[in-house]
Amino acid sequence: MSEAQRQILVTSALPYANGPIHLGHLVEYIQTDIWARFQRLRGHRCYYVCADDAHGTPIMLRAESEGLTPEELIERVGREHRADFADFHIGFDNYHSTHSEENRQLAELIYRRLREGGYIVTRTITQLYDPVREMFLPDRYIKGECPRCGAPDQYGDHCEACSATYSPTELKNPVSVVSGATPVTRESEHYFFQLGKFGDWLREWTAAGHVQPEIRRKLEEWFADGLKDWDISRDAPYFGFEIPDAPGKYFYVWLDAPIGYMASFKHLCERTADLDFDDWWAADSRAELYHFIGKDIAYFHTLFWPAMLHGAGFRKPDAVWCHGFLTVNGQKMSKSRGTFITARTYLRHLDPEYLRYYFAAKLGPGIDDLDLNLDDFMQRVNADLVGKVVNIASRCAGFISKRFDGRLAPALAEPDLYAEFTAAAEGIAAAYEGRDFNRAVREIMALADRANRYIDEKKPWVLAREAGREAEVQAVCTMGLNLFRALMIYLKPVLPAMAEAVESFLDIPPLTWDHLRTPMTDHVINPFRPLMTRVDPARVEAMVADSRQDLAAQPAATPAGGEENVEEITIDDFAKIDLRVARVTRAETVEGADKLLRLTLDLGGETRTVFAGIKNAYAPAELEGRLVVMVANLKPRKMRFGISEGMVLAAGDGGGPFLIGPDDGAAPGMKVK
Ligand code: MSP
Ligand code: ZN
Repeated sequence: MSEAQRQILVTSALPYANGPIHLGHLVEYIQTDIWARFQRLRGHRCYYVCADDAHGTPIMLRAESEGLTPEELIERVGREHRADFADFHIGFDNYHSTHSEENRQLAELIYRRLREGGYIVTRTITQLYDPVREMFLPDRYIKGECPRCGAPDQYGDHCEACSATYSPTELKNPVSVVSGATPVTRESEHYFFQLGKFGDWLREWTAAGHVQPEIRRKLEEWFADGLKDWDISRDAPYFGFEIPDAPGKYFYVWLDAPIGYMASFKHLCERTADLDFDDWWAADSRAELYHFIGKDIAYFHTLFWPAMLHGAGFRKPDAVWCHGFLTVNGQKMSKSRGTFITARTYLRHLDPEYLRYYFAAKLGPGIDDLDLNLDDFMQRVNADLVGKVVNIASRCAGFISKRFDGRLAPALAEPDLYAEFTAAAEGIAAAYEGRDFNRAVREIMALADRANRYIDEKKPWVLAREAGREAEVQAVCTMGLNLFRALMIYLKPVLPAMAEAVESFLDIPPLTWDHLRTPMTDHVINPFRPLMTRVDPARVEAMVADSRQDLAAQPAATPAGGEENVEEITIDDFAKIDLRVARVTRAETVEGADKLLRLTLDLGGETRTVFAGIKNAYAPAELEGRLVVMVANLKPRKMRFGISEGMVLAAGDGGGPFLIGPDDGAAPGMKVK
């Protein structure tokens, strides 16, 4: 606490402006927000900025499919994102957009400096081009057959069946996802950032402790593979910033996205009197800079971004901190299971501080994935927050209000016990500082147990019935409320709204870490009111059900935006397809295939093996015994893992897949007409 005041700037990754915030995203924003609030609570100057990531092909196509301009789409989504964050108490100092004047200027400045530094080259490359939509196709907008294993319906850069990676021009029978047209190859001049020129510098930077050990190991692998030039341009039509002196060429979205951190801060400086952009971003800045990100985008933040900053003469981050990915009930979030939960759906049912607490209790400094197990979530929040923390206050406050007009005792009865609580401060602070929130929470809950034990031992409710022991009742309850207040100081970064309610209940100014030193005595508090209610299991169930419905209500979330390109067929064409009911007798995972399950199907006597790309949506055990519909006369297809003898039908359009099955009464082998 005597530590000098630090100047700290923190960021979270900029969410894409084409979809809603979901609980997976919130891991990151909650983690960063807790850390920033902790720093402020300790008296440091800490700014937290973020923005929407508004550029790129998906946003351009999404807008088009909704009949909007990209500007209209990002405006609407930006508004939704801000509301979601505000309601989860994410306390940004500024939330901006990468489609902003500040960002355009900074992107141009950085680009120009990189060009002057000799780090930009141009090269002609060959890409697939959609002749109908008249645009070059990013990898994810091309589908075709895998050149290695022959699996159909694979994206342009990698095969989800066999994990092969390749260039889209190698795909067999490619189709444009945007228009359905067959793409042609076409040449175009592209701009490249020569990352390799920063190899030695990046090696040193990485070794100097700016990344977590797990990420450092990953970086060593990337260094060993060699740092390739990075393609930073895209051809029109593209929603982004045009490259200076290069008409028709745009900055690739990932070029200007991290610059959005600077732009958001710049926008804050414009509105804040004593905040000077250069103090925070010049190469010799003494301010600290930390980026919180998910591990999926480490490459951009630990290679390209520091190299860009270095090449353009700006300061570098002190650290880039990665977190792992969220699973729900042990599995990837799934729309069909109702575990793809948006921030808004959650808020319709549950208190945001439940989730803030649960994530805090699960987050460590590493990059491990974390699981939101909904049963554990309810149990944990109820036991810790309601059962332990709030319970201390509710057991003490009533006596103080009713018998002493709200007045606390003139002194602490057990200074040693209070000292135990303050002695924990530096350990808890170190845990927060090191993003070891689960350790901080464990230590705080151990203290909450200690406070409850104290009240259990002293039994104020018994003392209150005995004559002449009034002073003791007041002393015990005053102790209890002071211990409670210390706990709330420790929990304030995690539970800002509850802390505020406590401040008004105790009638005290906003709590800071320093207040630990001065216990409340001879002070009048307000009557107690419930600070948090138990998690209602019915609301959790309703949230899951609602998440399934939300999906049904949403327009198809495909990467494509174009019209469906479906050709008419005759009844005879249809009759060629032999659709049959089949029973799944076995479902197994396939080694080396991330998305596939091997299904053994009973077709009413005959047995077939089919590989189906449904692993993300279904656990093998839930499939066994289930009826499905299959194409029984599909030509067997040789895949790397074996021969697939047919296909099961499933609906899906970005969401799902959702298997199609007959109503009860159908039997394996029945023809589907
Ligand atoms: N727009 C880029 C980031 C640009 S930063 C200059 C992006 N956007 S995102 O919307 O896909 O993700 C935003 C952040 O949320 C990323 O750090 C990402 O890792 C994180 N998460 C997205 N889904 C997540 C989970 N399921 N679990 C945990 N974090 C997740 O990437
Ligand atoms: Zn393949």
